[in-house]
Amino acid sequence: MLKIKDLTYSYSQGATALIDISMGLPREHILAILGRSGSGKTTLLKCIGRFLTLQKGDITLDGESIYKMERKKLRHLIGIVFQQLYLFPHLTILENMCLAPVKVLKRNESSAKKEAKEMLNKLGIKNLADRYPSQISGGQAQRAAIARALIMKPQYLLLDEPTSALDLNTSKELGEWLLELKAETTFVVVTHDVLFTKNIANSGFLLSEGKLKTKGNMKHIVDILGLGDYQR
Ligand SMILES: Nc1ncnc2c1ncn2[C@@H]1O[C@H](COP(=O)(O)OP(=O)(O)OP(=O)(O)O)[C@@H](O)[C@H]1O
Ligand SMILES: [Mg+2]
Repeated sequence: MLKIKDLTYSYSQGATALIDISMGLPREHILAILGRSGSGKTTLLKCIGRFLTLQKGDITLDGESIYKMERKKLRHLIGIVFQQLYLFPHLTILENMCLAPVKVLKRNESSAKKEAKEMLNKLGIKNLADRYPSQISGGQAQRAAIARALIMKPQYLLLDEPTSALDLNTSKELGEWLLELKAETTFVVVTHDVLFTKNIANSGFLLSEGKLKTKGNMKHIVDILGLGDYQR
């Protein structure tokens, strides 16, 4: 289980973005981290992915501090898909997917390719394998970026605003996709899209001005947000 303990984070030129956050993120679920713009969601995700240096508190995975973990091990256990996706434009989708297994995990290139193809096939996007990121749609790029992260078989995959570039139907499809995959990977979905997470997340954490305001099932979160019976 991923545990965050007494985490506080301040940017050097900004206000304190996270204040005394403690939370447990159990495995084999879809977890939503919600909150208004500027509430600290992306900062929290960057801390969990070890993209920032912690000033106070710790984050552990099965009791081991992720900040003391070997980088290779960490990248294997915790994947992250940023809102900007960062697919390498000069590489095809298949090449994008094989980069980390070959370079980081030192896997054999042909077996990495075989596995990447199987993954794309499983996810129903094998037709994208030989295209470059500029040759696919935003929703397809979102899927390709998730596929690239999943090839590392992380225990946790952190997704920052995965639906921000998607229309309602495509985001619904993405939700169904995550539900199919959640037995193998725990998804931590950072978003302000309550409607997207309402139907798929097992539990949610609500941030407000850098603090953990409440946690619970999505009905509880929706109640706190006062959205009533707002249905999709
Ligand atoms: N690089 C930075 N330098 C200084 N302050 C920052 C930086 N990044 C974020 N902040 C500040 O930290 C706070 C939290 O920002 P964060 O990006 O985590 O919010 P968020 O919940 O992800 O918002 P959004 O929904 O708009 O993406 C905000 O007040 C923001 O202005
Ligand atoms: Mg953000």
